[in-house]
Amino acid sequence: SKNILTDTFGRKHTYLRISLTERCNLRCTYCMPAAGIPLSPKSHIMTYEEIYAIAKEFVDHGVTKIRLTGGEPLVRKDAALIMEKLGSLPIELAITTNGVIVDKFIDTFKKIGLKKINVSLDSLNTGKNTFITRRDYFKKVYDNIQLLVKEGFEVKINCVLIKGFNENEVIDFIELTKTQTLQIRFIEFMPFDGNKWDLDKLVSLEEVLKQVYAKYDASSFIRLNDAPNDTAKNYQIKGYKGTFAVISSVSNPFCDSCNRVRLTANGQLKNCLFSTTESDLLTPLREGKSITTVIGKAVQAKQKVRSGMDTLAKFKDPDSHKNRSMIAIGG
Ligand code: GTP
Ligand code: 5AD
Ligand code: SF4
Repeated sequence: SKNILTDTFGRKHTYLRISLTERCNLRCTYCMPAAGIPLSPKSHIMTYEEIYAIAKEFVDHGVTKIRLTGGEPLVRKDAALIMEKLGSLPIELAITTNGVIVDKFIDTFKKIGLKKINVSLDSLNTGKNTFITRRDYFKKVYDNIQLLVKEGFEVKINCVLIKGFNENEVIDFIELTKTQTLQIRFIEFMPFDGNKWDLDKLVSLEEVLKQVYAKYDASSFIRLNDAPNDTAKNYQIKGYKGTFAVISSVSNPFCDSCNRVRLTANGQLKNCLFSTTESDLLTPLREGKSITTVIGKAVQAKQKVRSGMDTLAKFKDPDSHKNRSMIAIGG
């Protein structure tokens, strides 16, 4: 019998992203509208036991990697407890965080063997950070990144590029990798509800590489091999300790090798980041019913490229991507 996590294009979904909360201690403009989003009532948010039960079901069907996302996953009161419980599953556990309170979780990460931490940082300039996050935590986040590296974690920096805002910092970010064992990932700005996306604001893979070619000579610039199912195209400047990468979801989608499914904090399964239909796992779970069939159907319904937005023209049509705000998906 066929694995329920293999879709009609033969893609095996072995990577589950779980959003722990819709809340966040920052207000990033590319992630949510200024006013925030209406939050799900607490009774609709998965409990710690429900998260574990759903995660276990996925692991039983072949998931080998789970990434915790949000909102900001660490603002959830039982975040440490959830990590400890999921840490007991035979998976690789990872987290994506804004880094603001990550220093308080070093012991938990170490205890459960969580090594992969992705931290959002969109500018190296204090004022620009305050502008983009609508909060004033640049120094705290920057210091926490240094702390994580010092403590031996595998740290990736997620930097969402926005035209006219931070594309002039590409080289400054790359230069951080000269002495620091970091991976900097430049991310193409993607459209979600309320984030004022516009194709004109896109800084594409091609534009990043143009800057790189202008700064470094061809012989000192290496295209690295990407990890299987990697979202990023990876590069390194010869002799530099760290690496950099570009996540080109808009200009060069990587859906052929997609191995990801997403579980929202209110227990809805999204078969793609851009899917507008969702499958409710929480209701059947609460009714004591099996969720196996629901999961299988959701995976079978997955489309080939970006939930049908296979061309840039479709991306430009605002009606074609009625989706959640990013804060309620988790990236
Ligand atoms: P690794 O596990 O370290 O490779 O990280 P990741 O890229 O899976 O996750 P992360 O949460 O750090 O996300 C970085 C960026 O990649 C965010 O902008 C995500 O929205 C985007 N991203 C992650 N997974 C996918 C995906 O399946 N499709 C698309 N289009 N973008 C994704
Ligand atoms: N486009 C691209 N990346 C985004 N992220 C959040 N919103 C967007 C967007 N609109 C990224 C953040 C975070 C990750 C989970 O998703 O950088 O690190
Ligand atoms: Fe997978 Fe959808 Fe992302 Fe493509 S856009 S890589 S199908 S989640």
